[in-house]
Amino acid sequence: MTDLTRRGFTSLLAGGLTAAVLPKPVFAATSVDLAARPGKARLVPDGYPETAIWGFDGQVPGPIIRVRQGEPVSRRFLNRLSQPSTVHWHGVRIDNAMDGVPDLTQSPVAAGDAFHYDFRVPDAGTYWYHPHTRSYEQMARGLYGALIVEEPQGAPEVDRDEVLLIDDWRLTETAQIADGFDNIHDWAHAGRIGNWITVNGDGRWRTTVSRNTRLRLRLVNVANARIFALATRGLEGWVVALDGMPLDAPQPLDSLVLAPAQRADLIVDVTAEDGKEAALVSRDRDGAFKIATFAVDGEARAERLATPKALPANPVAAFGALSSARKADLLMEGGAMGGMRGAMMGGRMMGIQQMAQAGKIWAFNGMADLPREPLIAADRGETIRIAITNDTAWPHAMHLHGHHFRQVMSGGSLGPLRDTLLMERGDKAEIAFVADNPGDWLLHCHMLEHAAGGMMTWIRVA
Ligand code: C2O
Ligand code: CU
Ligand code: CU
Repeated sequence: MTDLTRRGFTSLLAGGLTAAVLPKPVFAATSVDLAARPGKARLVPDGYPETAIWGFDGQVPGPIIRVRQGEPVSRRFLNRLSQPSTVHWHGVRIDNAMDGVPDLTQSPVAAGDAFHYDFRVPDAGTYWYHPHTRSYEQMARGLYGALIVEEPQGAPEVDRDEVLLIDDWRLTETAQIADGFDNIHDWAHAGRIGNWITVNGDGRWRTTVSRNTRLRLRLVNVANARIFALATRGLEGWVVALDGMPLDAPQPLDSLVLAPAQRADLIVDVTAEDGKEAALVSRDRDGAFKIATFAVDGEARAERLATPKALPANPVAAFGALSSARKADLLMEGGAMGGMRGAMMGGRMMGIQQMAQAGKIWAFNGMADLPREPLIAADRGETIRIAITNDTAWPHAMHLHGHHFRQVMSGGSLGPLRDTLLMERGDKAEIAFVADNPGDWLLHCHMLEHAAGGMMTWIRVA
């Protein structure tokens, strides 16, 4: 190898070599650290102390990871907590070894240890990351962040792109995270419902926009268990993607229900008058209240822009014939007011009292912990249908790893691609998907206390 002095380099160029034959700078997928560790956050303003949290890089939310579709993500996960952890990349149709599920796809990362996550993201859209070990505690303490995958082409034209991670915290009077994560009462009811709502870790999230600005809002429900019923004021537009996946056509935005783990990409125009406020509001029994405020200052343009086009589709396989698809049934039972008498645990039948003592109060197909056998063992590429019955008194947010599915509606039409489906009490729903991602994949309720309490099974794709 010759020593390329500055002079030699210049004369090489002068000698007629074009830039194309020079070695290109190598941007190796340099791995960046992502540490789960304790930190402080100002969740509650005015007169309250900061809150002691656990966060990725010590922050709530963790850093936004932004890549373009097909690019690698490489992070050295450092566990600086006092208990084991992992990182799960929610909604990414990922290589199974990178899915972050302890004892199914990897060993838990012990306190003080590290694990390298390296994978490519096949789909553009709004995804997120969170631990999958004691998630009901680790996520309640603030461990989560957004993974945004940009469309290489065909991205909608917007003036601004905002990621809004919506959380529900249970805080004490001094604004500290209430413990009692293992409270069996919560587990048997709706899960850990909080008393303080934040957007991006801020209980008074606020920004300034001008009238007729077009925004892309990427909403993620990162709460343990709260279902958000959302609406906008002074922001008008469309839902363009759900759970990361583009809708075939933008749907006019009215109200929007986001169950835990669900996402929605909105394209909205600021229609509130100059000097007024637009808002994202959350509705519950007590009324509607603002969770994000957009103060309107000035006017970006005189008129609203035209209706956006659909986002470019992601490369998800088309379904095979549904009539000949392999089928499985999934019966959800248990919880308060559910009348379940017992279930199998560790291969033995247990009464509900015994189960509750072991922290299990829910069951899938009569089994209250991760079964030895998968719910379905699919051949690669096979189309699978799962008919789910919610025979409980509670809503559940059913999430499948490694794949997106569609709901098969009565009459046979198909719903949008999703990775998490909200099922109300008593609901029956059938989902279908192409099992084209090899490995072992969880199927569980994303109300985290329900998952820990027994609502978990898995599928195997050969
Ligand atoms: Cu968002 Cu199994 O997880
Ligand atoms: Cu997931
Ligand atoms: Cu549930």
